[in-house]
Amino acid sequence: MSKMDSNPKTSVSDEPLISGHNYDGIEEFDNPMPGWWVWMFVACILWTPVYILGVHQFGFINSYEDDLSSSQMELAQWRADYEAANPTAVATEESIAPFVNVPQNIEAGATLFSTYCAMCHGAAAEGLIGPNLTDDYWIHGNTNSNLFDVITNGVLEKGMTPWGAVLDVDQRSQVIAFIRSIHGSNPPGAKAPDGELATPND
Ligand code: HEC
Repeated sequence: MSKMDSNPKTSVSDEPLISGHNYDGIEEFDNPMPGWWVWMFVACILWTPVYILGVHQFGFINSYEDDLSSSQMELAQWRADYEAANPTAVATEESIAPFVNVPQNIEAGATLFSTYCAMCHGAAAEGLIGPNLTDDYWIHGNTNSNLFDVITNGVLEKGMTPWGAVLDVDQRSQVIAFIRSIHGSNPPGAKAPDGELATPND
């Protein structure tokens, strides 16, 4: 408003017109885009082939996949260091077994499960994004250590997050106690079996 006031246009006749652009008496001014805008436009166009070749052909631009695999390597390295420094972070079949069938552990495991696992495995572990954990079919085996390893390390490429840095060894063992307690519960909406038939500690 104030700009218009300070620079009133009394006539349009002295502005350059694009000749021939006359539609029903409406004429078009030849107002070029500002220089900075044009240069950004040109720069974007020139950047396109550099970017495409840089990511897909020559690899001098970091892609999302590179970031993902390097962060996975960092994670693996971090885990190896952590486990070397904390031997108790690694559970054994013998260290997990006493957790199973103990009501307090099952209860604690149920709470952990609904907080950390239910969004992918379903409230009753019937399976959702992740597999049904109540049936006899297992992708990664069905020993307590198998479960512990999957929970600790995850299966990132399949969408199972690692929990080793979130849940301590006792908590992971409590979640296993809970999973054992609901074996064969056949919850409503149970997901079709994934993996192979494996009874506990096969
Ligand atoms: C972001 C989704 C997600 C969350 C959260 C999640 N899981 Fe998983 N989980 C998966 C997927 C997907 C798989 C299947 C992995 C595969 O196909 O190899 C899986 C697999 C598993 C398996 C192996 C099943 C088998 O058949 O061998 C176990 C055990 C498991 N999850 C336990 C847990 C526990 C316990 C938690 C919580 C602490 C949890 N998951 C949280 C997605 C998730």
